[in-house]
Amino acid sequence: MSLIKQIEKLREKALDELEGADDAREIETWRICYLGKKSELNDILRSLPRLPLNKRKDVGAAANRLKKELEESLGQREQAIGQKQIESAGEARLDVSLPGRSLPIGRLHPVTQVIDEMSQIFVSMGFQVLEGPEVEWDYYNFEALNIPKEHPARDTMATLWVDYETGDGDRQMLMRTHTSPMQIRVMENKKPPLRVVVPGKVYRYEATDATHIPMFYQIEGFAVDKDITMADLKGVLYEFSRRFFGRDRKVRFRCDYFPFVEPGVEMAIECAVCKGGGCRLCIDSGWIEILGAGMIHPKVLERVNIDPEFYSGFAFGMGIERVPMLRYGIDDIRLFYSSDLRFLRQF
Ligand code: FA5
Repeated sequence: MSLIKQIEKLREKALDELEGADDAREIETWRICYLGKKSELNDILRSLPRLPLNKRKDVGAAANRLKKELEESLGQREQAIGQKQIESAGEARLDVSLPGRSLPIGRLHPVTQVIDEMSQIFVSMGFQVLEGPEVEWDYYNFEALNIPKEHPARDTMATLWVDYETGDGDRQMLMRTHTSPMQIRVMENKKPPLRVVVPGKVYRYEATDATHIPMFYQIEGFAVDKDITMADLKGVLYEFSRRFFGRDRKVRFRCDYFPFVEPGVEMAIECAVCKGGGCRLCIDSGWIEILGAGMIHPKVLERVNIDPEFYSGFAFGMGIERVPMLRYGIDDIRLFYSSDLRFLRQF
């Protein structure tokens, strides 16, 4: 058999076997057999120098062509097998019957939930919800609320002052210490009848304990109209307490002093942790104070050009965090802002 014929037969056999090689191990066996040092093709190539010149050229060209073709076919086959392996591995990994992984879904902070719930209760009683600035002028936070400079009542709300140069010594800025400045802002712009609640953050330069933190929420509520009396104030607050805490929870009103109301009261709710028996949360009193309130002082009404001869109003300012504490029996206000998910996920 001539060498050219031998090369042709070798080609057919090699390509045929390559077609049947199905994995990396079979491919390597094929490579050693047909392209390795001891392969038939290599023998032919090595014998070229010994061939007569007239044959050497044709046999050499045919052998080299075959080598190139086998190398290319080997590359293609390797690629095809690799692709097949990737596909079958993918099929094995994808289990379409597995239940989907649920994504962690965020939720509203308990204080936000309570603000929404409280606002709903007041809205159902005819109040509208407004918001106001947390950085406030001294005028709205104190002056217009009948708390002039040097008034001792300023000491009851340790203030965080904002270092803001107005060029006008009298106009100072601060982080609002309560939501009451919104009484003035609203009454400056709207005339009675008014029924408004204002939830929002307030700031005080205070040491923390189980019921005090330096940044907390209040909800201000006020109503101004003809013939508004203390009975309206008590009616609204009793109704709120009934709806939020239930009928059985005891409520207590006591006289209190705030320069912007006359008369002034504080409202306390029976402690949820000890049910009135006395504990660390209520400092053994059985009660937790949740709000200050009263009838809007005539001087405050006059300042916003509402005639106290014709109009009267009530106002209250409630500490929001203390309300869920009383409902759920939480004995430390700091838990709300500790970012402890074990606590927060309960709500
Ligand atoms: C006021 O802030 C008055 N503006 C309330 C008011 C409004 C009176 C309208 C009359 C008319 P007081 O400082 O007592 O009052 O705060 C009101 C409520 O905020 C308190 O009853 C308490 O529930 C809550 N509170 C006060 N200080 C803190 C604090 N450091 N941390 C958490 N809650 C507080």
